Amino acid sequence: MNTPIADFVRGYEKRNMTRLHMPGHKGQAIVGCEGFDITEVAGADSLYEATGIIAESEINTTKLFGTARTVYSTEGSSQCIRAMLYLAMTNHKGKEKPIVVATRNAHKAFLYAVAMLDLEVEWIWPEETGSLCSCTITEKILEDTLVNMKERPIAVYVTSPDYLGGQLDIPSIAEVCHKNDTILAVDNAHGAYLRFLSPSQHPMDLGADICCDSAHKTLPVLTGGAYLHIGKSAPKHFAQQAKQAMALFGSTSPSYLILISLDICNSYLSEKYSELLLRTIQQVYELKNNLRKMGWQILDTEPLKMTVRMPKGLSGIQKAKMLREANVECEYADAEYIVCMFTPENLEEDYERTIHAFDENCELYEEQTELQISKCIRAISIREAMFSQQETIPVEDAMGRICGTPAVSCPPAIPIVIAGEVIDEDAINVFEHYGIKSVDVVKE
Ligand SMILES: Cc1ncc(COP(=O)(O)O)c(C=O)c1O
Repeated sequence: MNTPIADFVRGYEKRNMTRLHMPGHKGQAIVGCEGFDITEVAGADSLYEATGIIAESEINTTKLFGTARTVYSTEGSSQCIRAMLYLAMTNHKGKEKPIVVATRNAHKAFLYAVAMLDLEVEWIWPEETGSLCSCTITEKILEDTLVNMKERPIAVYVTSPDYLGGQLDIPSIAEVCHKNDTILAVDNAHGAYLRFLSPSQHPMDLGADICCDSAHKTLPVLTGGAYLHIGKSAPKHFAQQAKQAMALFGSTSPSYLILISLDICNSYLSEKYSELLLRTIQQVYELKNNLRKMGWQILDTEPLKMTVRMPKGLSGIQKAKMLREANVECEYADAEYIVCMFTPENLEEDYERTIHAFDENCELYEEQTELQISKCIRAISIREAMFSQQETIPVEDAMGRICGTPAVSCPPAIPIVIAGEVIDEDAINVFEHYGIKSVDVVKE
């Protein structure tokens, strides 16, 4: 597969042009990559009005993912999530304020989009969970929610895979959505690679209408590189309006370094990637089995994640510190879990180090008790809360106050209390559990 953006920028760099244009570094090496960090010079195309090399590169990605249209984001899935909700709003047919049905483990980017676009949310709560990060959703719960709504929601929005690697039954969820005349939007920030499994487990191949992938999370792409996918089943104007949707939330100076990286990734994905992926999955599978034999509790997750549930007496944060001392840095750790992410770019020695870092007798520890996620009462809308004057106060003084900005620990950036909800005792316990010391509340 060709790489039109990378070819153009390399050619531009080689010509040693006098750069009387932005950026101000003029291609001089300070970090080292400045030569490739260009702006929309003649021939470089323009991300939100793409007709040249960027359009050609995006067509390559569209073909790789088999969608109706895939466009690039240089500002992560966060930008795509805003664009997805905007597109869903263009499909609003009711008289009431548009509503989106969403699982409670939505990333904070979703909440920001809801506030900006003045949407209402009908939350789906997990049936059972020991973590903020997960929200299982059954067909029955979704069906009951949709059937009981006064107006058709503009979309059902779910996160799969979630931060712990849990995957939802997308085909069944999509079927319920379509039967109830709404679309399925998926936050697939953690699952770009799922397209390259055989058979594909990517949400767009399982029935989603629209979805975002953080290419940078699981593919060899620079941080910020992401895809917005529009499916063939989505309303026809979504594909046509995808660029307007992204432009609404993006900077007018998208990074060419990220665009080059996304462009080169097409070529990588079209060559040996599926084979490499298969080998990595086997390596991760063996690693998980070895840790299980040592007594560690490993969750059943998507294949590139290894999520370890900590036994009582050892927190994920303590274990992460121990891993760090062994020169292993994990993606995420909280009181109960450690999440490690692998890709074909990991080396053999990474697996060896990981197994040694876990080499201890975890049978000494007992089972953890499950965390109770709080279900706070809403006082005002998300938008009203986020657009209000706020103050930051210590968590111990927050009882009864209205949350102003989604209160998250980052990662995983999943709100414990949503803006506009009243902070209760359970929520304070969860804040303490996640080590959150202060919270933004609406000024009284
Ligand atoms: C589930 C989920 N959705 C969305 C995002 C936002 O993605 P990005 O960092 O690419 O903007 C994240 C980031 O960690 C995430 O974990």
